[in-house]
Amino acid sequence: MSQLVTTDHFNSLDEDIKYYCSKIYSNDISNEEEFLSVLSRINVTNLIPLRDVNRGFISEIVGHDLVIKKFNDKGKYDSDIIALNSLQNLNCIPRIYCYREKSFLVMEKAKGISLIDIVEYKIEVDHNQIISSYKNAYLQVLNRGWQDFDLKLEHIYWDITSERIMFIDFGQYGKLEKSNLYIENALNVGISKVMCDFNLS
Ligand SMILES: Nc1ncnc2c1ncn2[C@@H]1O[C@H](COP(=O)(O)OP(=O)(O)O)[C@@H](O)[C@H]1O
Ligand SMILES: [Mg+2]
Repeated sequence: MSQLVTTDHFNSLDEDIKYYCSKIYSNDISNEEEFLSVLSRINVTNLIPLRDVNRGFISEIVGHDLVIKKFNDKGKYDSDIIALNSLQNLNCIPRIYCYREKSFLVMEKAKGISLIDIVEYKIEVDHNQIISSYKNAYLQVLNRGWQDFDLKLEHIYWDITSERIMFIDFGQYGKLEKSNLYIENALNVGISKVMCDFNLS
């Protein structure tokens, strides 16, 4: 079993959360009962299977704005951990607090609502403002040399209060050559996708 790796943000967590994060999916927990007891003490929500249950599941640490993403066999080679680490300290990227390679990660819960919910529930928003913020946010990601190969409205959050875009799900992120042409093309693909799904194109 790989070591628990903690990031610079880990220290800002409450002591009990730090303790339980280090316990989750560790060798110290030998049976399912013990595992569930740790989870119940940090008050996680029901475990939500990922779209592909063979990839893993997500749960939320209630009251702490944290999300645990656990990887099963199919998901353990996804890019989540490496991409999230490499994209830290951008406004549009959730913080990563700790992880075990090929096992799980603890990340910041995105604030606001996903763009898919905005469409589905016909929430009144300024679509042009969202697209312009999306453009700025995705450009930062591209400039760090990463591209999202799983562009979907459900992976983009909009916080109305702070007028901020945040991305989630880095499983299908891939490296992008840092050339203006590649960046411009990838940005246009992203913008077209959002505009099309917003029915604006
Ligand atoms: N950081 C996060 N903040 C808020 N919700 C999240 C976060 N990460 C995942 N989720 C929720 O869990 C769902 C599944 O997570 P995701 O990483 O997209 O995995 P997958 O696409 O494999 O199912 C997302 O669509 C979203 O609703
Ligand atoms: Mg997803």
